[in-house]
Amino acid sequence: MAHPRTLRVDYGKTSHVICVIGTELNVSMSRSAPPSSKFFSVKCTPNVQYRITPSPQDTAPLAPIPLNGNSVLFISMDRASTFENDSKLSVQYYGENKDVLGRAVLHLTAVEISLDVDADRDGIVERNNPNKGSWMWGPNGHGAILLVNCDSERKYGKKLDSEQDYVSRVSDLKDMSLMVLRTRGPARLPPGYKLTMHISQSDAENVRVFRSRSSDAITNTLTNLLYSAFVKDYPLVLSSEVLSQEVPYLGGAAEMNFYVEGLRFLDKDFDGLISINLSLLEPISPGFPETPIFTDRVVFRVAPWIMTPNTLNPVEVFVCSTSDNYQFLKGMKKLVDKSGYKLKICYEYMNRGDRWMQDELEFGYIDSPHHQFPVVLDSPRDGKLMNFPYDVLLGPDFGYVERVADNEDVSSLDSFGNLEVSPPVSVNGKNYPLGRIIIGVAFPTATQGRNMTKVVQDFLWAQKVQEPIALFSDWLLVGHVDEFMTFVPAPDRKGFRLLLASPDAGYKLFRGLQNDGHGQAIMFEGLGEQEEITVDEILKDENLQAENNYVQSCIDWNRDVLKRELGLDDEDIIDLPILFKLLEENRAVAYYPDMVNMIVLGKNLGIPKPFGPKVNGRCALEAEMCSLMEALGLSCTFIDDFSSYHKLLGEVHCGSNVRRESFDFKWWNLEM
Ligand SMILES: *[C@@H]1O[C@H](CO)[C@@H](O)[C@H](O)[C@H]1NC(C)=O
Ligand SMILES: *[C@@H]1O[C@H](CO)[C@@H](O)[C@H](O)[C@H]1NC(C)=O
Ligand SMILES: *[C@@H]1O[C@H](CO)[C@@H](O)[C@H](O)[C@H]1NC(C)=O
Repeated sequence: MAHPRTLRVDYGKTSHVICVIGTELNVSMSRSAPPSSKFFSVKCTPNVQYRITPSPQDTAPLAPIPLNGNSVLFISMDRASTFENDSKLSVQYYGENKDVLGRAVLHLTAVEISLDVDADRDGIVERNNPNKGSWMWGPNGHGAILLVNCDSERKYGKKLDSEQDYVSRVSDLKDMSLMVLRTRGPARLPPGYKLTMHISQSDAENVRVFRSRSSDAITNTLTNLLYSAFVKDYPLVLSSEVLSQEVPYLGGAAEMNFYVEGLRFLDKDFDGLISINLSLLEPISPGFPETPIFTDRVVFRVAPWIMTPNTLNPVEVFVCSTSDNYQFLKGMKKLVDKSGYKLKICYEYMNRGDRWMQDELEFGYIDSPHHQFPVVLDSPRDGKLMNFPYDVLLGPDFGYVERVADNEDVSSLDSFGNLEVSPPVSVNGKNYPLGRIIIGVAFPTATQGRNMTKVVQDFLWAQKVQEPIALFSDWLLVGHVDEFMTFVPAPDRKGFRLLLASPDAGYKLFRGLQNDGHGQAIMFEGLGEQEEITVDEILKDENLQAENNYVQSCIDWNRDVLKRELGLDDEDIIDLPILFKLLEENRAVAYYPDMVNMIVLGKNLGIPKPFGPKVNGRCALEAEMCSLMEALGLSCTFIDDFSSYHKLLGEVHCGSNVRRESFDFKWWNLEM
């Protein structure tokens, strides 16, 4: 039986003992016996069970049992007492001739105490789950889950709920994990006994615990209106300032609700596990501290932040409106309308001319069996869009998390066009049902390269459920992985294709045009702001060819990493005809609108319009793109982003963002 407790008894006395259901009291018989005792006997009322070791030979009931040095009496009770002292047990000691030498009497009160959580992860707090004190991954695993309370339920004066140490609205309780203290026993505990809840200092930095004042006050709308009364209804029990606090014993059969709030996301210094203890304290004598005679323990794990790949259905599409992007907005609006999603426009008073919606933030979500909500990760990039995630997105059931870096540590690689996630994959028998995060860093051999800042990398790796892959993106002037890769849904194989920009595919297409007699076809026709150039001229430029050979080798290096880390075959990859050119420090930018930098809305793709050479009135690059994508059942819409994005070294994907539905797969079912 769990939780054995050593009890001392004094002969010649009546003592009062509390026995917690599920525990066993053990009494060393010889230690508490009168001197020269040789035998003992035990008697008790029906609610009490006992056993003796070593097991006595003489089986006659009530016959004195020989006392030897290691005789131990084990006492347990299986039903809670209705009244104090409603059960009894007495021990009688005998001398050599079975003469009575002394008697110890125990008045017993049984109580049932269980601190309960949703350890089986079905959204309901079950009764005394035997696994509640530990945490295990997987479909057969167990352990309760905690959300970081990173949204803002407040009506006025926006602030993260986790930054206030009181419950201001009843709606805030659903972001917390319910924990129930179930007790059964007499109306009161004997004088001096008390229940306390406690937590370690390090765990208390990461959670807070509130309780409801009355046992059933979950939704009391009247107190909800009376703000101050409401706050008093949910007193703070544990926090980083209060590591231990007495909680009331209600008497009879009672339940008291507690609400556990996560305060911090997983990170380098926090693996997400939290334990909370509840103890029954026994008074010894006045002036001495109480000693715990029973401790129940529950464990939670804080939910990770999860990213959503292109293969999940969109919910909302975000873009910026600027003084010069009317053409782009028009194209996006048409595409989003056609796809049946919501377009959210961030206007100039908020974006202050910063159009790179992809780069300032990344959408993700947090999930638990009781609740789920989207959470935006705010990049340390902090361009002029920097207030948008907090001021606009943060709200009720829309969470916010940021990682703050020193300014000198932040580079262009910290923009979240450089943070993507793959669809679910399986690699050499290892499953990644939530996909894998992809970031771009400096080439491993580079000593002076730009990297994604450490605080963001640490955060991403600590989430664990989408184990990141680092690609080489520093060869690009802007340096984002979305400049050379993306994923689109596919009806066959692994359910998706990896699209890679490919100068080789570009040259092949242009040479084919030349061979077919279209060498005089014109790129950038009629754009005005961009000098026109023929296919022949492009193919004659040896410098451009050399630059593109270098770019292809950079992309091929990443291709090999992606094949290895995502378990892809060549058939899972499609090369898109895209040329680059090198600018300052030999870093690359797209030569014409970078078609891989697209927005994926279900089966509809919004692709930067490439302004390629026309053959029979149709752009040859668009035609190639359509034929590749239509083979997968996808439909291409080309969006003119030339002057307002491409010329500023970004494209459609850089200028948009998509909030998507969450995975059906539950992260706690991962086998880790
Ligand atoms: C229970 O027993 C203890 C000791 O035997 C005694 O001090 C106490 O008063 C009793 N309580 C009640 C309610 O009878
Ligand atoms: C909680 O209980 C466990 C097991 O009983 C113990 O190891 C741990 O130290 C306790 N923690 C606190 C903060 O009391
Ligand atoms: C950049 O980040 C990668 C991936 O975490 C790491 O392996 C590498 O050491 C970092 N490089 C530099 C120069 O900090």
